[in-house]
Amino acid sequence: MTDLSFIADRLERRPIGWLRPFDRNPRVHDPEQVARIAGSMAEFGFVVPILADGRGNIIAGHGRLLAAERLGLSEVPVVVVDHLSETQRRAYVIADNQLTLSSRWDDELLAGLLHELNSQNFDLDLLGFSAAQLDDLMAPLEDDEPAAGGGDDGAEDEVPEPAAQPVSRLGDLWLLGEHRLFCGDSTDPAAAARLMAGDAAALLFTSPPYGNQRDYTTGGIGDWDRLMRGVFTNLPMAPEGQVLVNLGLIHRDGEWLPYWNGWLEWMRSQGWRRFGLYCWDQGPGLPGDWGGRFAPSFELVFHFNKKGRKPNKIVPCKYAGQDTHLRADGHSTAMRKPDGSVGEWTHAGQTTQEFRLPDSVIRIGRHKARGIEVEHPAVFPVYG
Ligand SMILES: C[S@@+](CC[C@H](N)C(=O)[O-])C[C@H]1O[C@@H](n2cnc3c(N)ncnc32)[C@H](O)[C@@H]1O
Repeated sequence: MTDLSFIADRLERRPIGWLRPFDRNPRVHDPEQVARIAGSMAEFGFVVPILADGRGNIIAGHGRLLAAERLGLSEVPVVVVDHLSETQRRAYVIADNQLTLSSRWDDELLAGLLHELNSQNFDLDLLGFSAAQLDDLMAPLEDDEPAAGGGDDGAEDEVPEPAAQPVSRLGDLWLLGEHRLFCGDSTDPAAAARLMAGDAAALLFTSPPYGNQRDYTTGGIGDWDRLMRGVFTNLPMAPEGQVLVNLGLIHRDGEWLPYWNGWLEWMRSQGWRRFGLYCWDQGPGLPGDWGGRFAPSFELVFHFNKKGRKPNKIVPCKYAGQDTHLRADGHSTAMRKPDGSVGEWTHAGQTTQEFRLPDSVIRIGRHKARGIEVEHPAVFPVYG
């Protein structure tokens, strides 16, 4: 092992014209793939050098050379490999490609990473997969085994086995560390009072029944507006409390129903402003023909409040501290006022902020469900 040749000692910058592609290279790089490599270089940098012999004959990296040309580079990083015989050099042209091809993806870990990158707004086109491949890879998984290998995706969603004999009964109050969990009817003011024990909530995030489409254990929702009024009359909110309510679409007789209209008006009559409306992006649509409409892959989240609150910027900005959004004359490309000027709130003349607000599209894919993702449309993540 000690006589292995180490490329770290042989890394050089070479003018692009010094390199000579192998005229019998059996590996084909079509223009679309070259464009993808160029896109990847623009994002990640030129992080894998080209391998060439001492005379510039390329041993590995023909696609990288084409991409570098496409990007207009004049120099490229090269590892000069001069310890190979002519025969070995030609053999390695094949081995370099074929050895990589013979590894495979762990579909579950790959899907987890893809969804994670997607939720962080990373442009998945830069990864080299086609749009159709991404759709396939990110579609709900079919096995219900937990993630193998202890990858970090899934760790936060470790769900304990339910007890064979559930012990929770109506009226139970569970004290779980600093959390309180009450088993009861949300329309019952006494239930809310017992849960809150005199405290007021800063945030309420709830997912009530979606209209009267399902027969829940309560025996069905006869009058949805009445149920909603019952629940939202009792909100134990602090004056600056924020209320977020998740609702999905219902279709009936070939149409989606605006079943929330009456309730929205009633909320306003109680002083709750329709402050925000968000989209919960649940990942690729569920299987099925859906009567010919597009496969469901989102739900709505209604955000109400009575008072605004200080913006909580928690998402790190990729270009923090940079000024790439400024034009050459120093003007911001940010949103303009009707008179054409850029206001301070859109960061006129400033570099990109360190942190920004979360998006109004909440990206939590159903793949997190592991096993019930095609049975239940609204799979909530579990956070410890
Ligand atoms: C759309 S589902 C949301 C499920 C929830 N997000 C979860 O992950 O379990 C609506 C839930 O509201 C419950 N529900 C219906 N009427 C209720 C009431 N009066 N009080 C409390 N929960 C009720 C149903 O049993 C159902 O579990």
